Amino acid sequence: VDAYTQLAAEGYLSARQGSATRVARIRPVPASRPRAPAGHPVRFDFRPGVPDLGVFPRQAWLRSLSAAVRGVPASQLLYGPAKGAGELREALAGYLRRVRGVVASADDIVLCTGVAQAMHLLAALLLEDRRPVLAVEDPSHFDVREFALREGLRPLMVPVDEGGLDVGALARSEATAVQVTPAHQFPMGVVMEPGRRGELIAWAGRTGGLVIEDDYDAEFRYDRAPVGAVQGLAPEHVVYLSSVSKTLAPGLRLGWLVAPPRLAERLAALKRRNDLGSPVLDQVALAHYLESGGYDRHVRRMRLLYRRRRDALVAALRASLPGVRLHGVAAGIHLVVELPPGLDENAVVTAALRRSVRVYGLSRYGERRLPPGLVLGYASLAPSAIEEGVALLAAAAGATAGVGRADPAPHRP
Ligand SMILES: Cc1ncc(COP(=O)(O)O)c(C=O)c1O
Repeated sequence: VDAYTQLAAEGYLSARQGSATRVARIRPVPASRPRAPAGHPVRFDFRPGVPDLGVFPRQAWLRSLSAAVRGVPASQLLYGPAKGAGELREALAGYLRRVRGVVASADDIVLCTGVAQAMHLLAALLLEDRRPVLAVEDPSHFDVREFALREGLRPLMVPVDEGGLDVGALARSEATAVQVTPAHQFPMGVVMEPGRRGELIAWAGRTGGLVIEDDYDAEFRYDRAPVGAVQGLAPEHVVYLSSVSKTLAPGLRLGWLVAPPRLAERLAALKRRNDLGSPVLDQVALAHYLESGGYDRHVRRMRLLYRRRRDALVAALRASLPGVRLHGVAAGIHLVVELPPGLDENAVVTAALRRSVRVYGLSRYGERRLPPGLVLGYASLAPSAIEEGVALLAAAAGATAGVGRADPAPHRP
């Protein structure tokens, strides 16, 4: 009876007293959000930088959130301290010291909504100091350069090679600050060589330059313990940035920066001026999650999961696309693959989309000319999906061989 009542209420049945209940004649209602008309449905999306959101630790997060809601005194529901909730800064200081070798006390930490906001605060600080020339890794996350331009900074692209950022080129430039991803360069995946790390610190010491270290996915190193943060070697010259965007979920918008004392106060003031602080209950929940050991357990679990996915991707690429060159170390949640000679990056991306596989060209990340390649995110795809996706990608690449190629040798997958 309940089912009939419900179906009638929703209009699927017409029920009139004294006559039989019938299936209603329904005119199809257009979906509120029409599908893209000519788009190809994407079955396998190798979007870089996205963790597996399907395994977000809902129960554990709920427990921590619930502890936060129950535990915070009423006074803490007012605008909090400019640097963010004290309990999270304390917990992070311990975690970052233990896991990343970051030298920090709670006072050096400013909580924010992610690396993105930390970069905005730093841009404002650099402009206040009339130091607008920001060196940016080339290639890098394409947002960094765009963002610097929008903020009124002067981005200056400095090349990255197998050893990480070319610090010699940085030293020859007029940059007074530099954005780097030393533990796992984005997107190339290389680790900054120890010699270069030393040179970078020497550059900062000599010139008073500011090193902005984006430690976005350092928890995920699969073949050995990750190198420590550069910040740990020269805390007075480095502002360290990180967030839960890769470990938990970008949508949480929880991140932090660690700054030398002279800058931490100013960055906190800028944060307060910007938005009066990040949501307090989420900060307290993350503090609880860290202190309870849940965050470490989650990261360990994800490390195993992502390692298997990376292995599956490497094996599938080697099997289906002989001749591809893989860049970077076994780490993170994306991989750069250089296409075999003769293949055109754009043609491969387009042909893959026709086969319902979305891949992302390497060229969009670089200012200078890069070899044709793809940046493949693998964290949110199961190994079977990775295998299927790569098989389709290989078929797509094979179909493009000969189209717009630079090298006369055709590629046979
Ligand atoms: C290189 C790099 N840094 C940082 C982030 C994360 O930014 P946020 O912490 O604002 O989510 C990303 C996300 O895509 C990234 O690719």
